[in-house]
Amino acid sequence: MQRPLAERLLFPPQQVNETKLAKAVNGKTIVVSGASFGIGHALCLLLSRYDTHLVLIARTEEAMSILAKSIEANGSRATIIVADLYQIDDAEAVLARLATIGAIDIFISNAGKSIMRPLVQSLARYQDITRTNSLNYLAPVKILLGLTPLLTRSKGMIINVSALNVLLLPAPNWAAYQASKTAFDQWFRCNWAEWKQLGITAKSIYFPLVKTRMIAPNPKYTHAPAMEVQQAAIRIAKLIYQDKSVSKPWWAIFPQTAGFLASKLWNAYSFHHISRHSS
Ligand SMILES: NC(=O)c1ccc[n+]([C@@H]2O[C@H](COP(=O)([O-])OP(=O)(O)OC[C@H]3O[C@@H](n4cnc5c(N)ncnc54)[C@H](OP(=O)(O)O)[C@@H]3O)[C@@H](O)[C@H]2O)c1
Repeated sequence: MQRPLAERLLFPPQQVNETKLAKAVNGKTIVVSGASFGIGHALCLLLSRYDTHLVLIARTEEAMSILAKSIEANGSRATIIVADLYQIDDAEAVLARLATIGAIDIFISNAGKSIMRPLVQSLARYQDITRTNSLNYLAPVKILLGLTPLLTRSKGMIINVSALNVLLLPAPNWAAYQASKTAFDQWFRCNWAEWKQLGITAKSIYFPLVKTRMIAPNPKYTHAPAMEVQQAAIRIAKLIYQDKSVSKPWWAIFPQTAGFLASKLWNAYSFHHISRHSS
């Protein structure tokens, strides 16, 4: 089926360079958090076409077992780690399991939760903040602190699967999600040079809307242009072998520049938008 013009322009289809990707991932152990659904799931399927050992982390064991069968059918290996990364004890347990696996070459920090909720509906929902921060910020920090010695040994790579809105002006209704993703992004970028000194390559990918269950509950996004999940996986796979540390949509420069030039206008627009939708 022909994709809408806006989607073809905003998210032009990309392909991986099979030779370069094979060289970058063959024989490697790649840990993917949030592997049971969405972007992480699509990435694991793509990487399983090479000679990889994929370590899958998420809560839904059944989905990961089905994925593991597909990975093995494609000729790669799969290891499943069931963990609820809202719980810091589970993040510790993940580290203990990873320590038994041996060499870890690449960690894709992908598990995430988004919440879009107006402030007035959030007043009794402090748990929105603790959940988003536990999963989007504190758990990956905990895992990466523990993995840094292993990744130093393997001269490995870390990829942070982030969101484009982290690079843009603060958006009304998105405080819990945007604050937690931004906190992790800042922590991650602060460590970039120190990881590099240890021989670890750290890269970030900033996604716009991607067609996964994450955006499904929001009726606003039903007809909004969004990237296909397989295309998101291809962009992460390309970043593994590309000689750059950041991947974002080609058009991100426009909202970034507009935000830089017009933050006062943005505040006025946000207020107008919120007032119109709450009246
Ligand atoms: N979709 C978008 O529009 C979009 C845009 C920008 C950035 N992103 C980022 O892309 C990443 C992947 O999101 P997605 O769109 O693929 O969403 P998704 O389809 O909802 O997948 C999220 C993954 O995270 C896992 N996860 C959620 N809660 C968890 C928990 N408490 N403990 C362990 N794992 C947990 C889920 O597995 P279980 O439920 O089995 O635990 C699932 O595998 C996220 O970091 C998100 O912020 C997405």
